[in-house]
Amino acid sequence: MTDRYAVIGNPIGHTKSPMIHGSFAQSTGQDIEYTAIEGPLDGFAGAVHAFRDAGGRGMNVTAPFKLQAFELATDRLERAELAGATNALKFEGDRIYADNFDGVGLVADITRNLGVEIKGACVLLLGAGGAARGALQPFLAQRPSVLVLANRTLETAVALADRFAPYGEVIASGYGDLSGQHFDIVVNATSASLKGELPPLPAEVLKGTKLAYELVYGKGLTPFLRLAQNAGAAQLADGVGMLVEQAAEAFAWWRGVRPDTRGLIDRMKIPLV
Ligand code: ATR
Repeated sequence: MTDRYAVIGNPIGHTKSPMIHGSFAQSTGQDIEYTAIEGPLDGFAGAVHAFRDAGGRGMNVTAPFKLQAFELATDRLERAELAGATNALKFEGDRIYADNFDGVGLVADITRNLGVEIKGACVLLLGAGGAARGALQPFLAQRPSVLVLANRTLETAVALADRFAPYGEVIASGYGDLSGQHFDIVVNATSASLKGELPPLPAEVLKGTKLAYELVYGKGLTPFLRLAQNAGAAQLADGVGMLVEQAAEAFAWWRGVRPDTRGLIDRMKIPLV
């Protein structure tokens, strides 16, 4: 029988998940159906339960439901617990398991696809919201030599640095204090690019950077990537690889087989111009 999966969000029209999982199912020979559900803003839990009761096996969760999905779960895996949010659910009997693959997807993209080692690197993470929080533990697990977390609101960065201290040292910083520092990898995990804005990052920080990574996908050369390009960053990337890699992790969690991702990422890439 065909197993059913879905992505739930609101709005959901833009989602690439059905295409990505459809491609994975084909390449791995898995018999699944994967659809998109627009969850009612005041009825997320009801929509999840209805999907499960109709035989659904798992769901991806996107904005604005990642926190509600975390609350709804009966069992949270450590990564979801640390991120305080979930982007993937698995249904088994009356249990709802929650995980979060955003951070591991990002790390997989940087290390495997873009060929940049995080181990021993000086890393700068911009932003201290949900996206940064999901990335911290997977980054620390790679053992960078330095991990600086910069945020407009310094207290939020300090609170995150404290929370993640058991997993490795995170140095909280304001943007102004970054002047004169240089990093191998700079990741923009703020939501600034969604608004066409630029975090107040001193341009010189990006001089000599090996990789400037924009989490937002499909927006071309965002103000952050443009700044990095002008500063001479060696490699620029947006979040398409992360999107596909986190999907591959969820697929493996559900189906026990990890699909190849390279071909699909290459097909989905939009030139950064
Ligand atoms: P998400 O879940 O996408 O991470 P969020 O939790 O709302 O979204 O967090 C947004 C992050 O982007 C925050 O770190 C925010 O900084 P503040 O904590 O100071 O608000 C950051 N951000 C948003 N717009 C920004 C801008 N124009 N410049 C710098 N940082 C910005």
